[in-house]
Amino acid sequence: MCGILAYLGKEPALPILLEGLRRLEYRGYDSSGLAVMEDAEVLCRRAPGKIRVLEDRLADAEWQGSAGIAHTRWATHGKPSEINAHPHSDCRERIFVVHNGIIENHQALKEQLQQRGHQFKSETDTEVLAHLIEEYHQEGLLQAVKEALLAVQGTYGIAVLSADHPGKVVIAAKGSPLILGIGEKGIWAASDVCALVSHTREVVYLHDDDLVLVDSEGYQISNLHSQDISRPKRTIDWEIRDAEKQGYPHFMLKEIHEQPQAVRNAMRGRLLQAEGIPKLGGLTDVWKQMVDMERLFIVSCGTSYYAGLLGRYIIEESTDIAVEVDLASEFRYRKLNFKEGTAVLAISQSGETADTLVAIREARRKGALILGLVNVVGSSIARETDAGVYNHAGPEVGVASTKSFISQLTILYLIALSLARHQTPSLSERQSFLRELISIPDKIQQILDGAAHIQSIARRFSQYRNFLYLGRKFNYPIALEGALKLKEISYLHSEAYAAGEMKHGPIALIDEDFPSVCLAPRDSSYEKMLSNIQEIKARNGPVVAVGTEGDRELPKICDEVIEVPATHEILLPLLTTVPMQLLAYYIAEERGCEIDQPRNLAKSVTVE
Ligand code: AGP
Ligand code: GLU
Repeated sequence: MCGILAYLGKEPALPILLEGLRRLEYRGYDSSGLAVMEDAEVLCRRAPGKIRVLEDRLADAEWQGSAGIAHTRWATHGKPSEINAHPHSDCRERIFVVHNGIIENHQALKEQLQQRGHQFKSETDTEVLAHLIEEYHQEGLLQAVKEALLAVQGTYGIAVLSADHPGKVVIAAKGSPLILGIGEKGIWAASDVCALVSHTREVVYLHDDDLVLVDSEGYQISNLHSQDISRPKRTIDWEIRDAEKQGYPHFMLKEIHEQPQAVRNAMRGRLLQAEGIPKLGGLTDVWKQMVDMERLFIVSCGTSYYAGLLGRYIIEESTDIAVEVDLASEFRYRKLNFKEGTAVLAISQSGETADTLVAIREARRKGALILGLVNVVGSSIARETDAGVYNHAGPEVGVASTKSFISQLTILYLIALSLARHQTPSLSERQSFLRELISIPDKIQQILDGAAHIQSIARRFSQYRNFLYLGRKFNYPIALEGALKLKEISYLHSEAYAAGEMKHGPIALIDEDFPSVCLAPRDSSYEKMLSNIQEIKARNGPVVAVGTEGDRELPKICDEVIEVPATHEILLPLLTTVPMQLLAYYIAEERGCEIDQPRNLAKSVTVE
């Protein structure tokens, strides 16, 4: 969690750090702070709450220093407060540290340091780093950071500034993402490229155990054993515009509206229409193993987990591969022995989710082939997989995942179809499937064009406190995703069930104050969904249904109906997802919630 940023260059650091922090704010937003080297002194300012509070506190600062570090926090140790906000400093207030991650042995280190006379000011785990570096500060900044890191266990992305070493910033990474930006006006380090892409598009992705000294000469990467390390420079292929709201009131709404494009981007250059097959370049090297695969585990969290659940239905629908989907955080607790022919697919928008990373490391240890479906290029999961597919969905800033989900589903269809061609479907069936997939972006657009109707339903339903979401088969994962969207951004209680399961318990909740959102497009489970809706109505439960355009039955029994265009049954989730997102969005808007930065959450969950 949290965003860190460092800059050393020719320009005043303060405005650069504040701009970068605003772009990183989606990563954590309970407090923030920064420190700038000014005439051989480090000036530091911190504030509780959003970055605008920090900006207000710096309104009259005329700092001209051109080296600095900054942080926007998602607290793990110590409540959100000014005293716990980063940067943290040593006893002499000469060394300043920003940190993303957790120092697991902080308690033992703190006790040792206190015995040596160190005075601690905060409740954070991070502060031990500043005091540890202080212990070694006479050895030079790089060496002192190295010694300190050798003593800690846990994960970190850190940036360190010291008044005793002006003109230097030290950066280090282990288990938390850090990217260097190399520009004409200086060198940046940030948790996400969005914080530096307005200055430079030349970047270097740091790996675990990389330690970087940045000074006026440039940057040198080494490791904790003082060996020089060389990492390739890469060029970012998206514009800063892509990470801006572009006139939308929220990133979430913008990203919902980008979904037709996200589906096109996921398919671009990947369809061989004449042969009716997709070609996924990132899987070429392991394709032989994938064709022989007997068992596939999909591991992921949150929205990406629900994409995995749909992945199971669609891969099993067209192949004889046995697919299991696991919450990444639970995967390690299973006593699995992988036989040959087992692969693990990690799905992750950020590519940094700690639970998912741990799961694939465990699977690698057990000898499985590790595959990735990741949006963020160069991220840790992308680096730690044997092969994989990028989403190319562009930056997703809203904490509630939307376009990356639609993109994940699209690629899962492509993977399923690639694997299926070795089984049953004929050429004409495959071509017809691809034609239908290509028409999906226009159909999503049609739903988006009808958003005003969904907004009016949201107005009517925003006063309820509890919601039940129901779906069957391909739409069961979409019901789960719909309920997650609602609880994340509107803080309303919502839970999803496979509709057939309702009668085994949840139906007890139903009354006139407990509405249900029912996914009931015309598919092979339509009749059963109609019966479930009747069961709810018989108990006076209000119902919002998502149905196929022109459906005459649903309006007779439901309070509200949202229509989606017709498509192949298996592709329906690409359409039914969109009303789920818009309904959650407009209900949250009605309730005046902080849609892009919901309380207690952070976009990328880099702690277990
Ligand atoms: C989605 O709206 C959530 N914010 C969250 O559940 C998210 O999907 C989950 O943390 C997984 O993230 P990842 O895709 O970046 O791994
Ligand atoms: N563990 C540190 C803290 O609680 C850093 C958390 C973060 O990554 O934001 O302050």
